[in-house]
Amino acid sequence: MSERIGLLVGRENTFPQPFLDAVNEKGRAEGIQAEMAVLGGAAEMEEPGYAVIVDRISHEVPFYRAALKSAVLLGTVVVNDPFWWEADEKFFECTLARKLGVAVPKTIVLPNKEYIPDIDHRLSLRNLRYPLDWERIVRYVGMPAVLKPNTGGGWKDVYIVHSLDELIRAYDGTGQKTMILQEFIDWDDYVRCICIGRTHVLPIRYDPRRPFHERYRIQETVEGELREHAIRDAQTLTQALGYDMDTVEFAVRDGILYAIDFLNPAPDFDNFSIKEDNFSWVLDRMSDLVLKYARGEAKPPWRGEHRWWRYVTE
Ligand SMILES: Nc1ncnc2c1ncn2[C@@H]1O[C@H](COP(=O)(O)OP(=O)(O)OP(=O)(O)O)[C@@H](O)[C@H]1O
Ligand SMILES: [Mg+2]
Repeated sequence: MSERIGLLVGRENTFPQPFLDAVNEKGRAEGIQAEMAVLGGAAEMEEPGYAVIVDRISHEVPFYRAALKSAVLLGTVVVNDPFWWEADEKFFECTLARKLGVAVPKTIVLPNKEYIPDIDHRLSLRNLRYPLDWERIVRYVGMPAVLKPNTGGGWKDVYIVHSLDELIRAYDGTGQKTMILQEFIDWDDYVRCICIGRTHVLPIRYDPRRPFHERYRIQETVEGELREHAIRDAQTLTQALGYDMDTVEFAVRDGILYAIDFLNPAPDFDNFSIKEDNFSWVLDRMSDLVLKYARGEAKPPWRGEHRWWRYVTE
């Protein structure tokens, strides 16, 4: 395996070059080199060419994901695991958090409002409870509630609803998306944690009520018991999920930290949103992480975990 580290990126422009520079600077003496990954037209057994690939965009470029899954089997360490990332969903994560003893808002997953044309409403949906007991659902999560997609990000299709009528109206517009309905946490404090390598956690005060560029409140540092609790729960979640890069958000109400969103395997690393000091922290931790993988000093959390690993020799 080569000593090359590849980076896959989307539109972001502030993280890629400084990250490559940081890795190259630290790895140069050992002959480790970082660059933008180039993928396209490989055959199934072709040497991937990268010891490590940091994947920030395969959720939106399915071809990358196809290539990365094969690269994993051929020995490349992909951050984050393309198999698990594809399977992961917010509703599953809420159940997982409960099992791990991490507080989450009460959550219900809803059947889709609409389906692809090939679905025959009489035959294909025979197993679906209909009509749904909306009264019971609303009693469980309470009002107001948050209706949001089971997968996805960027605050797309996130609705706060205040009554059953509003809920049905919002739900009727969700098309083929699978949605979850969640207790709205009327928080008095909010923390977003950047998590690298399943151990390094940087809690930052975050105010989602403010405009996008003002959300990270870096002057208002997170200290004491709140800091420790956020770090502990973020570690618990990222260790179980196996994400080497993620953000974990907590809404704090009456001293309880509710994990709101921890399905962010390509977290916002832009220096203008997380600010310079946090950005340097990210560059440092991310470069150390990939260098450890490139040197073979660390094993990715998912290696050997899928059933097919048992049948192949590396
Ligand atoms: N249960 C909840 N209680 C209170 N606020 C919530 C809840 N769920 C979501 N929100 C608010 O809506 C925002 C967006 O929700 P969420 O993070 O789940 O969506 P997302 O599209 O994954 O966002 P991002 O792109 O920031 O990761 C949260 O940052 C939070 O402010
Ligand atoms: Mg998210």
